[in-house]
Amino acid sequence: MENVKNYIELNKDRFISELIELLKIPSISADPKYKDDVAQTAEAVKEKLISAGADNVEVLPTGGHPIVYGEKIIDSKLSTILVYGHYDVQPPDPLDLWHSPPFEPVIKDGNIYARGSCDDKGQMYMHVKAFELMVKNNSLPCNIKFMIEGEEEVGSANLGPFLTKNKEKLKADIILISDTSIIANDVPAINVGLRGLSYVEVEVTGPNRDLHSGVYGGAVANPVTILCEMIAKMKDKNGKITIPKFYNDVEIVSKKERAEMAKAPFNLKKYKKDLDVNDVAGEKGYSSLERTSIRPALDVNGIWGGYTGAGAKTVLPSKAFAKISMRLVPHQNSQKIAKLFSNYFKSLAPKSVKVNVTFHHGGEPVVTPTNSVGYKAASKAMETTFGKTPIPIRSGGSIPIVALFKSELGLDSILMGFGLDSDNIHSPNEKFGIFNYLKGIETIPYFFEYYAEMKK
Ligand code: BES
Ligand code: MN
Ligand code: MN
Repeated sequence: MENVKNYIELNKDRFISELIELLKIPSISADPKYKDDVAQTAEAVKEKLISAGADNVEVLPTGGHPIVYGEKIIDSKLSTILVYGHYDVQPPDPLDLWHSPPFEPVIKDGNIYARGSCDDKGQMYMHVKAFELMVKNNSLPCNIKFMIEGEEEVGSANLGPFLTKNKEKLKADIILISDTSIIANDVPAINVGLRGLSYVEVEVTGPNRDLHSGVYGGAVANPVTILCEMIAKMKDKNGKITIPKFYNDVEIVSKKERAEMAKAPFNLKKYKKDLDVNDVAGEKGYSSLERTSIRPALDVNGIWGGYTGAGAKTVLPSKAFAKISMRLVPHQNSQKIAKLFSNYFKSLAPKSVKVNVTFHHGGEPVVTPTNSVGYKAASKAMETTFGKTPIPIRSGGSIPIVALFKSELGLDSILMGFGLDSDNIHSPNEKFGIFNYLKGIETIPYFFEYYAEMKK
């Protein structure tokens, strides 16, 4: 495997410039204006897979954005690794907080700055380049399939049915995903848990039109104020979510497991400094790491209503809105939680307003075993390239399709990501370290080698 390092050394400039080309296309899945760019990105990924050596590469249409599929079957008797990733990205706003435009990638201090650099174009593309390396070095030890989607950031609604319809095509032994973080560049980690998600939008309606806030103010309920009060009631003074039955299905993590998790390095002072906050907040009795892994959370992602333009306009708004996400842990269910939320939210509304709750998308939480062949191969691969055994961690984010890989295809996923929590994913100035990008390309071939070996 000496060849791995050599190949990367010889080709790293090209690896970087190819990624930069991909990052220039604004594949924002949430915004219909970018539909053509999303489609163009799928075509670009297809071309990259073909030139890396994949066969039967196709861009498959769905009810939404397309899925890119490709494979290299060297021997049907050997095991098959299915690589999943996403080529779509989050909207880049607020644009004015970016130091350089989100789709004009720049390299600064060893990082590539661009929307999607880490989440997930950069991490997805590591697999394309690691595959190229294995093909060129004649070291691909088993079969490989790629499934790269364009709707992860909007909930993967079309991918679930795609799995169900293409079970034979997607037949594999394990799923490999790089779309998560390590703890630090010298503290590797493997993700063994993801939170689920239940995302809702609420609408509170007061009077039938915006009113003069002098003529009516004080005598008619203000939906913005009421929405704020209703949201405030959703948590108690201990940071517990007040929705009845919300915690009923929450997995109780044993003291022993919590003690094990607490061994992962975490520096609260540094955490606060990085975010520029004087204190952290959350559910009483749990550490920051626990609050983002083994405990659920409820957050307002956006809130609006009334006049938000320049200067002052005196108006008592007719409507107020909020987008609210609930992060779920085993064994909560996203549909069930959405229903509980809706019932409770409606019960909080005073007679002076009408409320409406709509469900956006969801995903179920997952926990993966650490005693599987896949985990062991990933652990050994990271140990080889980082020189340290990776720490198993649960992460607060969600990747909705992972639970469906298990329920629809019966497959576990190995979440071997190379990003950092400080990479600003979904935020302005998203970045991905060149160290991380190349380390990923270096580690993946070892995963393939060890997995194929251990499976024998
Ligand atoms: N890659 C992230 C999820 C992630 C990030 C997991 C960091 C672990 C560590 C993924 O692209 C993502 O952002 N997922 C969305 C879910 C979706 C339904 C919008 C999320 O978690 O908000
Ligand atoms: Mn992602
Ligand atoms: Mn994301």
